[in-house]
Amino acid sequence: MRKIIIINCVSLLLFASCSKKTVVNPVTNPKNGGDTTVASVSYRPLFHYTPTTNWINDPNGLIYYNGSYHLFSQYNPNGYVWGNMSWDQAQSSDFFTWQESGVAIPEVFNINGSTSMIFSGSAVVDNLNTSGFATQAGQVPLVAVYTANNTGASGNAISQTQCISYSLDQGLTWTAYTKNPVLDIGSTQFRDPKVFWYAPTQTWVMLVSKPDVDSVRIYNSSDLKNWTFKSDFGAIGNTNQVWECPDLYQLTVEGTSTQKWVLSVSGGGVENGFGGMQYFIGSFDGSKFTADADNYPLYVDYGKDYYAGVTYNNIPSSDGRTVMVSWANNWSYAGTIPTSGYRGQYAVPRSLSLRKVNNADGYHLLQTPVAEITQHEINAYSNPAINVNSTLKLDSVSGTSLDIQFNLSMANAATAGINVLQSGTEQTTITLNKALSEVLLDRTKSGSSSFSSAFSGVESAKMDNVDFNNLTCRILVDQSIVEVFINSGEYTITDLVFPTQAKGGISLFSTGGTASFSNFTVKKVSKTLH
Ligand code: FRU
Repeated sequence: MRKIIIINCVSLLLFASCSKKTVVNPVTNPKNGGDTTVASVSYRPLFHYTPTTNWINDPNGLIYYNGSYHLFSQYNPNGYVWGNMSWDQAQSSDFFTWQESGVAIPEVFNINGSTSMIFSGSAVVDNLNTSGFATQAGQVPLVAVYTANNTGASGNAISQTQCISYSLDQGLTWTAYTKNPVLDIGSTQFRDPKVFWYAPTQTWVMLVSKPDVDSVRIYNSSDLKNWTFKSDFGAIGNTNQVWECPDLYQLTVEGTSTQKWVLSVSGGGVENGFGGMQYFIGSFDGSKFTADADNYPLYVDYGKDYYAGVTYNNIPSSDGRTVMVSWANNWSYAGTIPTSGYRGQYAVPRSLSLRKVNNADGYHLLQTPVAEITQHEINAYSNPAINVNSTLKLDSVSGTSLDIQFNLSMANAATAGINVLQSGTEQTTITLNKALSEVLLDRTKSGSSSFSSAFSGVESAKMDNVDFNNLTCRILVDQSIVEVFINSGEYTITDLVFPTQAKGGISLFSTGGTASFSNFTVKKVSKTLH
């Protein structure tokens, strides 16, 4: 039942937005700004990616090439709500400073009134020129693979087909392949291709989601133009929502040389009825993914605002990282969040690995913010040991763009934690609860929330195998986003927050006994991203 409701919401959303191409004025649009109590606070984060203007959702086409991390976005060039989907482009050499260069792959308008919006997808570096797009020596094609969402003149859904565009100038300009689409199964529910090179069998691999049946199809190709169906994976784990944005990557198990394949999809989270991402661990032979027997569903992040995450292609093996970027938002309220001048932001890029755990789960995903995001941090406060037995306000430090790190020993305390973005009665609270074995993020008092009844709430992660006398905690705060990483990112919670005042106070607390916060550091981020 729930799934049907969500499918209908997505279809309605797609249909409604396909059928009208309104240019939305950020000032007069009542949905932009949402809650009118918001006045003086800038919600634009300093070290999280936002577009200069307009709407973004999923990150697309993540490739590293020649010193640049390319980041494309599902983008509406005309407004602050979803619509006219096109790929916007940005590049960075360090995951911190991004140069946005505008629309790279625009929506297609046909003479007969039908349109093809450019939906999510990926990009590859075709080093061997398997596609034949390079015509001169030394040219290396970058190839973007994406879904064309084809609708008729009246906005009626026709099909979702997979198409390619290529660039011969390192991503500066893009040309659509004249024989698009490269894959069409006659379905309106077939999207978000993730393509990568599988070296052992010298083949391109494409994963495409079949959202309506919660499955992922796997194809092979030798030239990126002709694709052969190989296998299906799906209908396991959480199938309460549609599956979108599949990805498949190989990760190393912490402290070992063991590698496992991880297949992740968006749709299916611990918060039923909301977005979320889940993952499966197993093996892959180039054409078929086989999941290990495990305690599924396994969730990537336990907040309400972590969706459509996909990983970079072509990061050199000398670097060795698998880096994921996700949209920090939720379809339930993404169109009404009260930001001005832009709408949509990405969580910090996270380096992924696995941890072996001693229970039925087998392995657990670890997520660490990439080190590059710390390059403009300034030490603001540090204290080797703070014992807290009620509430302790840290008067000498505050801020709205912070990297807070500490170890926590709860001893006989029942709960302990930290309030951030505190101002008057407003605060966002992160609590470790020993009896529940949970980490919780409470945004019920975080500030503006009247733009959606789905927003306010307490998110929690049930934690297995954790020692409450030896927890590592890292909390990234950036104007309107809080990301919590417990035990080196074994459990993460990502949530948007919209404080109405920007005082950014911090306090520590415990209940039921004394908790020890050690190696406590607060760093402030000093430079803006753009
Ligand atoms: C995920 C998604 C994708 C689709 C895109 C459209 O958030 O629904 O499945 O390609 O957004 O913008």
